[in-house]
Amino acid sequence: MDDNWAAADGLHHFIGNRWVVAASGQTLDVIDPSDGRPFAKIARGNSADVDAAVRAAQRAFGEFGDGAWGRLSAAERGRLLARLAARVAECGEELARLESRTTGKPLRQGRADAAALARYFEYYGGAADKLHGATIPYQPGMTVLTIREPHGVTGHIIPWNYPLQIFGRSVGAALAAGNACVVKPAEDACLSLLRVAELAAEVGLPDGALNIVTGLGAEAGAALAAHPGIDHLSFTGSPATGTRVAQAAAQHHCPVTLELGGKSPQIVFADADLDAAVAVIVNAIVQNAGQTCSAGSRLLGERPIYEELLARVGDAMSRLRVGPALADLDVGPLIRHSQLQRVQQYLSQARADGIALAAQGRIVDDAPPAGFYQAPALLRDVPASHRIAQEEIFGPVLAAMPFDTEAEALAIANGTPYGLVAGVWTRDGARQLRLARKLACGQVFVNNYGAGGGIELPFGGVKSSGYGREKGFEALAAFTRLKTVAIRHG
Ligand code: NAI
Ligand code: MG
Repeated sequence: MDDNWAAADGLHHFIGNRWVVAASGQTLDVIDPSDGRPFAKIARGNSADVDAAVRAAQRAFGEFGDGAWGRLSAAERGRLLARLAARVAECGEELARLESRTTGKPLRQGRADAAALARYFEYYGGAADKLHGATIPYQPGMTVLTIREPHGVTGHIIPWNYPLQIFGRSVGAALAAGNACVVKPAEDACLSLLRVAELAAEVGLPDGALNIVTGLGAEAGAALAAHPGIDHLSFTGSPATGTRVAQAAAQHHCPVTLELGGKSPQIVFADADLDAAVAVIVNAIVQNAGQTCSAGSRLLGERPIYEELLARVGDAMSRLRVGPALADLDVGPLIRHSQLQRVQQYLSQARADGIALAAQGRIVDDAPPAGFYQAPALLRDVPASHRIAQEEIFGPVLAAMPFDTEAEALAIANGTPYGLVAGVWTRDGARQLRLARKLACGQVFVNNYGAGGGIELPFGGVKSSGYGREKGFEALAAFTRLKTVAIRHG
């Protein structure tokens, strides 16, 4: 297997452990963001394909959890996931190259993502047989117990920014809990996931436990969200699409987990260890060219060190080189032309509104001209209410602003529609804890920052960043439903 795995005559859906041609017979081009050229074809799925995948998953689960997948013991499921983890690790380089080629991310990020996928399967494989209910003290002569049952068939709508990682966190946990999965990856970047599905079949996942339907969001994605056979839905992507998906799921009362991005602040106090902070702050906004839900996209600096912070972050940013994914430079291209246009519109609005560019990285001279490249930009003194400081740009654009007091920092930090992650940089222990308590978000990092990392750490948002938690042991509960059994025995 090599980069040409996907090249020949195009890829199909993966349903019931087999390649299945799109019902429509239609295909979509996959574009390489590094040069803007199509290099592979995928199936253009519609509701008929989604229906076939849901039926395959329902068979695998079985009406009473007695299908080929549903009847496996938790230990057996765990063992299969462990085997898949090992197989993913063996194929790590191949997966990393597919991931980098389709998303545009530098190869070492593709490698990190493939390693994270293996780790998700390892982690959730190990958790499969440690998930259980409880007994509840109730009335004399009665025993009450709770049973954690899988939902049945879970749907997973995955975005293009971290296909391997986001697949790992939601599908890994769903399978561990005993669900059969139907996955709709993003049309832009799904090749790595099709390959993972093939690996899952290879290690012995029963037919239908894991199914992938490719295609457009408005077609295959909408059909999956609306399908009455889906018992739980996980979505990661934009707030607008998340709303649509949740509305469709509500028509059949299907529980939903939504992860909708953020505008996460990095709050740097005057007593912070700037030597430690600067590289982390820069990485948190340029990793994956800023197309990370948990990107640290706002930089709040306490007035006495604000200029020094800007100078040091700006210096690091101006050294960054942007180029093709497989050249493995600091930053790759954005996912597609429309995303590049979107980022450029934000930058021209900033210019028009008099917001100063403090520093910018550089696109290498030999980067293909038709690639979707954006030099990372540091904008200074951005008013906290400006669009640049409020909206998720999803590009390598860092909005810096000064603050004078802890209360002001907190008000700015919490003052967007989002609430996903926050970074706090200070040596003051009491302040660390105060802010950790008062920040309105799902994760707080103190003197470190984990954009996209941390398999073991529960992750998710508040407000428009979504609801529900993925990652860590906590995530498993959402992929089960609790049944209470009350027995009177006298
Ligand atoms: P999107 O939210 O539309 O797409 C994410 C996924 O949803 C893809 O698999 C897509 O095919 C699917 N989808 C799209 N429309 C759908 C529908 N009507 N029903 C069901 N599924 C549907 O995101 P898009 O358009 O690719 O990017 C726009 C913006 O969204 C980005 O600039 C960024 O701000 C945000 N975004 C945030 C992500 C995150 O990790 N939180 C990931 C991707 C995008
Ligand atoms: Mg969209």
